[in-house]
Amino acid sequence: MNILVINGPNLNLLGTREPEIYGKDTLDELMMWLETTPDGSDHSFKFFQSNHEGEIIDTLHDERNWASGIIINPGAFTHYSYALRDAIAAVQIPTVEVHLSDIHNREEFRHISVIEPVCINQISGLGKDSYIKGLKLLNDLLV
Ligand code: DQA
Repeated sequence: MNILVINGPNLNLLGTREPEIYGKDTLDELMMWLETTPDGSDHSFKFFQSNHEGEIIDTLHDERNWASGIIINPGAFTHYSYALRDAIAAVQIPTVEVHLSDIHNREEFRHISVIEPVCINQISGLGKDSYIKGLKLLNDLLV
């Protein structure tokens, strides 16, 4: 299975960005951990991070014939990017929305996800384990 992992805006600063909320791992550490977890051993991974909505959409388009599953942490785009939602719907690849923090127990604007309806599931609040759970869901669906 080919897994595309996309991280949105500000996630490049993981490690120093509000560590009490997002943890102490850097994005590279987190992605390496995901790639080497036993649940990922049979898969090929591609990782992409961008602070720019259009670049994320371009990547979804460019990888649509490669990826069999997508794990996406859209960052704040979660809460308002209809363009990203449309892109996920357009590529028709099973996608899991993940969040490090529990978006339902934070500021009210974070409670809404415009991405969730086009994803097979949303996983929020498990820290880095949110990504592993996302991978397990894709495994259950695709393997
Ligand atoms: C986040 C939650 C979002 O509300 C926030 O804008 C982020 C990170 C998370 O992983 O908890 O950038 O997606």
